[in-house]
Amino acid sequence: MVRFPETSVFLRRLDRDLPVAVAAEGSWIVGADGRRWLDASGGAVVANLGHDLDDVAEAVAEQIRTLGYVNGTQFTTRAAEDLAVELARRLPEELAYVYFLSSGSEAIEAAIKLARQYHVERREGGRTRLIARVPSYHGNTLAALALSGREHYRALYAPWLIEVDRVPAPDPLRRPAAPGTTGEAVEAEILRSGADRVAAFVAEPVGGSSAGGVVPPPEYWPRVAEACRRHGVLWIADEVLCGLGRTGRWFAFERFGVVPDILVLGKGLNAGALPLSAVVARREIVETVAAGRGAFVHAQTYSHHPAACSAGLATLRRLEKDRLVERAAALEPALLAALEPLAEHPAVGDVRGVGLLAAVELVADRRTLAPFPRSERMAERLAEAAFDEGLVVWPNAGNVDGVVGDLVVVAPPFTVTEAELGEIGARLARALRRLRPA
Ligand SMILES: Cc1ncc(COP(=O)(O)O)c(C=O)c1O
Repeated sequence: MVRFPETSVFLRRLDRDLPVAVAAEGSWIVGADGRRWLDASGGAVVANLGHDLDDVAEAVAEQIRTLGYVNGTQFTTRAAEDLAVELARRLPEELAYVYFLSSGSEAIEAAIKLARQYHVERREGGRTRLIARVPSYHGNTLAALALSGREHYRALYAPWLIEVDRVPAPDPLRRPAAPGTTGEAVEAEILRSGADRVAAFVAEPVGGSSAGGVVPPPEYWPRVAEACRRHGVLWIADEVLCGLGRTGRWFAFERFGVVPDILVLGKGLNAGALPLSAVVARREIVETVAAGRGAFVHAQTYSHHPAACSAGLATLRRLEKDRLVERAAALEPALLAALEPLAEHPAVGDVRGVGLLAAVELVADRRTLAPFPRSERMAERLAEAAFDEGLVVWPNAGNVDGVVGDLVVVAPPFTVTEAELGEIGARLARALRRLRPA
C-alpha cells in the first residue's frame, strides 16, 4: 500500500491507501501483495479488451522501433492513415475524416473548436453558444468541464468556465414524459438561445457514467438531430465512453438511425494501452475548413501519434477478429441477470443497462425514487465496499440533477466470462450488504 505523504507521486487520492497494481490478466488486476480484483469497470470504462494486450503491445513496439514520432504538421504516418481507414470503414460514409488526439477531454475541446471554425468559415461567426445536458460528463479540461453538467467537478473552477446553455438529459425512470426525455427540450433551448447564435449541441447518444447506461426513448435522437439540422446547429456526439462496442453496437448512435455532425471517441479506441482519442467530422465540415483557412486552427504535439494509432489499429483488429462487439451485445442479458438480484436490496432503485454498460442506482426511498443526500456519499461508499470485496466498479454521483443521485457503473471487458459476470453480481451483493446509511 502507498499513502500520501509517503510517496513522491502526487497521488489521485491523498486521503487513503492505494494498492500498487503490478500485473493484470483477463478481467483481473493483481496487486503487489498478491491480492486480485475483478475489474468490473475496466478502470474508467476503458479496458474493453480485458488486460491481455500482447497483440497491442507487439504493434506498439514495432511502431516505435520503426518510427517513434513525427509531427503531424510535417508528416502523416501509415499508422494514422490505416486507423482512419479502419474507423471510416465502420462509420456512415459522411463521417469521413478523423483527427487523432490523446484524451477524451482534448477531443471534446477540439470538437467544439472545429464547430466554431466551421461556422466562422461559413460567415456565421455569430454562432457562439453551446448547449449541453444535465447531468453529463465531457471531461475535465476547462472547456470540457464547462460543458459537463456535474456540479461536484465544476464548483471550484466556476469563475473560469465558459457559459453553456443547459437542457435536462433524458431520464426515462423519473421523468418519462418530460421534454428532456422526449427530446423537445433541445429545440426549445435552441430557440431560446437564438437559433442563429447556437454553434453546437454536445451530448452522449447513450448516457455513460453521469447517467448510468441510460438509453433515450426511440423518438429522442431523430427529433433532436432533425432540430439541430433545421437550425444549423452541429450535433457533437460524445462517444468517448459509449462508442466502439460498449453498448453492443460499434457506435451508440447507430441504434437511433441518426448520424452526428462530429463524433468524439476515446477510452475504448485503444482499450487503455496508450492515450488515444479521435474527432471524426462530416466531409462537409472538413471541406469547409479546407476551403477557408486551409487547416483546422488547432495544435497539439502528440496529435496523430503513430504509436498510439498503432495501438488503436491493433484494438480494432482484435474487436473484429474475436467478434467482441457482437459479444458485448450477446452478454447483455447475462450481465443484467447477474445484477438483477441486487434490485431486491432496500437501497437499490434501479438496475439497468445496454450491451456491457450497466448501472446499479441507489435511492433513499424505493417508492418515490428520492435520492440520498450527497453527504452520505453512497456511490463512493458502495464502490469502496466493493473494492474491499475484490471488485472494481465505477462510482458516480449526480445522476438525478448533476448534484444528487448515486450509482455505480458496471462495464466489464468484452472478454468477460459468464462465470465472472456471476461473480460480479455476487461480490456487489456482498458489498451492498455491508453498506449502512452514514
Ligand atoms: C462521455 C465522456 N466524455 C469525455 C470524457 C473525458 O475523457 P478523458 O478522461 O479521457 O479526458 C469522459 C471520461 O470519463 C467521458 O465519459
